[in-house]
Amino acid sequence: MRGTELWAASVYLIAMAFLRWVFRLLMVLIVPHSVYVIFYLTSDTHSPRETMADMLRRLRCTNLRRKFSNITSAKRLNMKIFTQELDDFLNCSYNLNMTEQEINRLRLQFCCNATGSIFLTKRNTAVNQTIPYETSIKHTYTMNPAIHSMLPEDIPWSGRRLGRCAVVGSSGILKNSSCGCEIDRADFVIRFNLAYINGSDVGLKTDLITINPSQIQREYNNMEKNPDPLVERVSVYGNASLAIPAFAYTFCTGLSIRALKVLHPVRPQQPVVFFSPEYLRTLDRFWKGRGLKEFRLSSGFMLISTALELCESVHVYGFWPFGTDLQDNPVPYHYYDKLSSHTYMHSMPEEFVRLLQLHSQGALTLHLQPCSSDEC
Ligand SMILES: *[C@@H]1O[C@H](CO)[C@@H](O)[C@H](O)[C@H]1NC(C)=O
Ligand SMILES: *[C@@H]1O[C@H](CO)[C@@H](O)[C@H](O)[C@H]1NC(C)=O
Ligand SMILES: *[C@@H]1O[C@H](CO)[C@@H](O)[C@H](O)[C@H]1NC(C)=O
Ligand SMILES: *[C@@H]1O[C@H](CO)[C@@H](O)[C@H](O)[C@H]1NC(C)=O
Ligand SMILES: *[C@@H]1O[C@H](CO)[C@@H](O)[C@H](O)[C@H]1NC(C)=O
Ligand SMILES: *[C@@H]1O[C@H](CO)[C@@H](O)[C@H](O)[C@H]1NC(C)=O
Ligand SMILES: *[C@@H]1O[C@H](CO)[C@@H](O)[C@H](O)[C@H]1NC(C)=O
Ligand SMILES: *[C@@H]1O[C@H](CO)[C@@H](O)[C@H](O)[C@H]1NC(C)=O
Repeated sequence: MRGTELWAASVYLIAMAFLRWVFRLLMVLIVPHSVYVIFYLTSDTHSPRETMADMLRRLRCTNLRRKFSNITSAKRLNMKIFTQELDDFLNCSYNLNMTEQEINRLRLQFCCNATGSIFLTKRNTAVNQTIPYETSIKHTYTMNPAIHSMLPEDIPWSGRRLGRCAVVGSSGILKNSSCGCEIDRADFVIRFNLAYINGSDVGLKTDLITINPSQIQREYNNMEKNPDPLVERVSVYGNASLAIPAFAYTFCTGLSIRALKVLHPVRPQQPVVFFSPEYLRTLDRFWKGRGLKEFRLSSGFMLISTALELCESVHVYGFWPFGTDLQDNPVPYHYYDKLSSHTYMHSMPEEFVRLLQLHSQGALTLHLQPCSSDEC
């Protein structure tokens, strides 16, 4: 390099450094302090234009987080704006908030105490005890000695600390998601309604799975004569506990007890457990008190609440109650079948909005996008 060129380059570099300094000074004077800090921390690695774009993006993230933290109803949502904002928000950097996690854990422990009472066990239920129904005050059930003898001694994972939990809903949004590996890396995996499992998209690991009594009625009503189909179906989940809401409605009890009697002798490694109607009632009251008004919570929402109490961190997959995804592509109702209707028994959009609120507050992580394979 010749002398003059070197000199010109030096002048140029000094001039650029001076301009950058002036620019920073202006920023100090005209933008609020917190924004300036962000700017300062990033300004050495980006050009001012990139830095400006970055700063605006972060501002938008802060605003969206504030907005979604305060969202309490799905009514009057403009879906077009909502999905656009949600898409932007999911691209923001995400932080769990340990304080929020602890607050939720304590609230749920105090109101509902899944730790000691999520299921009926020999420890928390006596022979001849009167069991209420979740949705009816007219009817009760008296625990007889035969059924009592088939209850588990204690909550299956009692005494074990649940670390990272994955709660896997059945929404078609999991199709082609490649989330299986990430889900399987969780310490504890919860699934619903004997959902089919698939290594690549939803993973295989299962620690707790629910069975819907109407599913037993529909698909396994012949189970005493021919137990094989039911036994084969549940064997897929290894040693996972099978949880049944036996006291949700009166019609559930007989079906649940029949399934217990069929499975108890042949799958001793897979405890069949009945949800405590009292636990689910207190949970219902808890959320109603927070403005979530619906006849009965979905089992998905119930077990996410349970996970918020019992798990160190909660990762939610496959909860998406709308017919199109964030890019406006159609989403199947379930990831595992061809049902197309999105008519739910429960107020799924209202529940979803609560999950989004918990996500924005840093209490749980909602996964709505495909998983990146390089994390596994
Ligand atoms: C949160 O919502 C309430 C009522 O909807 C509103 O009064 C309040 O200003 C909102 N707060 C924020 C930070 O947006
Ligand atoms: C998401 O954020 C990255 C930077 O972190 C950016 O490059 C990308 O364009 C963003 N995508 C969308 C859809 O906003
Ligand atoms: C975490 O949550 C607590 C309780 O809601 C709140 O006071 C605090 O500001 C949050 N922290 C961050 C970093 O957002
Ligand atoms: C929850 O239940 C367990 C076991 O029954 C009990 O030891 C514990 O004290 C209860 N916790 C609360 C907050 O009620
Ligand atoms: C349960 O009730 C039956 C009939 O009322 C009685 O014979 C039995 O002793 C009771 N068992 C217990 C453990 O209370
Ligand atoms: C999943 O991927 C397959 C092939 O890659 C494609 O045919 C199918 O439409 C995709 N399904 C969804 C719901 O995206
Ligand atoms: C399942 O339970 C059986 C019997 O208790 C045990 O031998 C086996 O190791 C368990 N399998 C797993 C994967 O924990
Ligand atoms: C299951 O995984 C295979 C690839 O391993 C994929 O082709 C198929 O579409 C998946 N099925 C479901 C229902 O997710």
